[in-house]
Amino acid sequence: MRMFDIIRKKRDGEELSSEEIKFFINGYVGGEIPDYQASALLMAVYLRGMSTRETADLTFAIRDSGARLDFSAIDGVRVDKHSTGGVGDKTSLIVAPLAATLGVKVAKMSGRGLGHTGGTIDKLESIPDFKTSLSTEDFLKTVNEVGVCIVGQSHDLAPADKKLYALRDVTATIDSLPLIVSSIMGKKLAADDDCIVLDVKTGSGSFTKTVEDSRKLAQTMVDIGKRADKKIMALITDMDKPLGFAIGNTLEVIEAIETLNGKGPADLTEICLTLASNMLFLAGKGSVTECRKACERAISDGSALETFAAMVRAQGGDDSVVYDTAKFEKAKYSLAVTAEKSGYISRVDTEGYGITSLLLGAGRNTKEESIDLSAGIILKKKTGDKVETGEEIAVLYTSDESKFEPAKKRFLQSTFISQEQPEDRPLVLDIIK
Ligand code: URA
Repeated sequence: MRMFDIIRKKRDGEELSSEEIKFFINGYVGGEIPDYQASALLMAVYLRGMSTRETADLTFAIRDSGARLDFSAIDGVRVDKHSTGGVGDKTSLIVAPLAATLGVKVAKMSGRGLGHTGGTIDKLESIPDFKTSLSTEDFLKTVNEVGVCIVGQSHDLAPADKKLYALRDVTATIDSLPLIVSSIMGKKLAADDDCIVLDVKTGSGSFTKTVEDSRKLAQTMVDIGKRADKKIMALITDMDKPLGFAIGNTLEVIEAIETLNGKGPADLTEICLTLASNMLFLAGKGSVTECRKACERAISDGSALETFAAMVRAQGGDDSVVYDTAKFEKAKYSLAVTAEKSGYISRVDTEGYGITSLLLGAGRNTKEESIDLSAGIILKKKTGDKVETGEEIAVLYTSDESKFEPAKKRFLQSTFISQEQPEDRPLVLDIIK
């Protein structure tokens, strides 16, 4: 078998066999297939798509590319939640400790920023001394003792995805249904959870821009999860506007802490309550309504925040920032962005906001690049809000002043102001079971 022939076959729109898909994955992980050939195949898949059978084969090949995790040492029902990626999406930081407070175990492996979207691991690294890499023993011990632990993907968990994820990030091959499905489900199935709640984002800040595409993505992931005997469901949630007001690593952690403290933005709080109550429901902890009430109590009585602080301590982090967010390191420079005309913010290009944050230093342009954890955006106005000419609509943050000009330009290009107040759409658009 030759990689050249596999690329040519997919380039010409033909279906790859299971053996060819396994040959590619094993060869790429083993180092026999170079990045340039893998990139060419990714682009061919991006342009030509994959059948459901090919997508399932790719998912299982990614799952089997490394060690499968064994969570049997965890005492209790293991539940995970995974987002397909958005802008300002800090939900994992909130729902993981929230669900864990209410008696399920969350042994979470998360990723870094991808394209215009942020990643939980980058966010957590803005907590001083927080370790996102632990031995399996310490990981399982923390899950048992605290109820939750969030680490980066270990090297031997779905290593094919780790390599492919980084390559897709720099070759414009992220927003492809089979590549997203196999990436997410390859990792999820290599872990050893009983239940999985998928948060499939839809809209301008998501990798799937239409509800129809998001539904297709959700249904494919749910079907593959069921084939692997998981209790699994997907929520389709709005990403036509960023979640909350903060975009960028440190800024988002602060907003997540505020939300765990009961003082978060309404949209973010609502999504988190919905996700966490469905995680608990799947785990058999009661009806969705009962679970939601329990989640609301865990936020108002401070127990969810305490679980977050305990996780920070267990992972070597400085938990004093949880109780005093003013202690987080701030960006050196800030710049207010003002409205260029009066009217309503009729819509925003949320991906453009994600790219603005990236331009400020909060994300990566190449897979080796380091990031500015304090860089990002605080939105002062969101879709539907009325603005006057010259009114502040956002504040940009960075440690490198030269980044302001292109970032501000991109931000303004992504903000549309008109005389008509736009219609709001629900935060949760569909549930796929
Ligand atoms: N999240 C992932 O883990 N993989 C993708 O491809 C997209 C979002």
